[in-house]
Amino acid sequence: MIKSLNFIRDNLKNIYSDREIYFLYKIIFEKKFYFSEIDILLKEKKNSLKNFEIFKKIIFRLKNHEPIEYIISEKEFYNLKFFVNGSVLIPRSETEELVDLIIENYKDISNLKILDIGTGSACISISLGKNLKNSEIFSWDISKNALKVAKKNAILNSVNIILEEKNIFQENPIFFKENFDIIVSNPPYVRNSEKKFMEKKVINFEPEIAIFVNEEDNDLIFYEKIISFSKIALKKNGKLFFEINEVFGKEICKLLEKEDFKNIILKKDIFNKDRIIFCKK
Ligand SMILES: C[S@@+](CC[C@H](N)C(=O)[O-])C[C@H]1O[C@@H](n2cnc3c(N)ncnc32)[C@H](O)[C@@H]1O
Repeated sequence: MIKSLNFIRDNLKNIYSDREIYFLYKIIFEKKFYFSEIDILLKEKKNSLKNFEIFKKIIFRLKNHEPIEYIISEKEFYNLKFFVNGSVLIPRSETEELVDLIIENYKDISNLKILDIGTGSACISISLGKNLKNSEIFSWDISKNALKVAKKNAILNSVNIILEEKNIFQENPIFFKENFDIIVSNPPYVRNSEKKFMEKKVINFEPEIAIFVNEEDNDLIFYEKIISFSKIALKKNGKLFFEINEVFGKEICKLLEKEDFKNIILKKDIFNKDRIIFCKK
């Protein structure tokens, strides 16, 4: 039996399934040692002691629940590669569904003006920029460090986006009156009370500011602000797209109705959870 495969199994068997362990094993060799899948088996025997020491350190990080994406500094999203570190949320597959929905809605339209609120790694902005030709994309985030990652990703993927350090709660929509065709946001939406049900790899490593709604008594604070902002900042017939916490679906729809948004649609993700809301001004 291969030494490193044994080592990873022994150390991670209480955290990951056999299948996950084999996936991690392959990905570490591929991304950290640049071995192809065939090379892994052929070269493993000749693998140097130095590599094994590096490998061991990686396994200890995984044992400590650190996400593999931060260890290899990479996450694939919508068929593109994104650099990630602890300053940004690791892009999720649910968010790919949100991106896909926007592209489906707008694939035949060019010269769109788009605003992505809480851009993080800029996975939404960059995937839209790659697929919606000639669109002008504004990507806002409160976190300086997230914006550094977003900039790196824009360069990595050769997409032009306009990155701006902004706190949405301090933005007055009057300055953006009827400015955007699309506003999209995947804001922080997890309640502090949900922390106890979450995996250690999320709560110990992903940025709190990206995940949790701080406001103790109003879980919908981001949605309320973005809805009132969009009411003014969207062009006539412009569309608002949200990723949501499954428990807030109906309440957010009510907020949108109250603000006179039309064609409000609540959509489930592939895991059958209410995850996306979109509507028209
Ligand atoms: C759930 S993450 C989404 C990141 C990325 N858009 C994605 O879908 O993977 C939310 C993002 O909102 C940013 N954020 C938090 N509070 C904010 C605020 N008040 N104004 C603007 N951005 C904020 C966080 O820094 C984080 O990058």
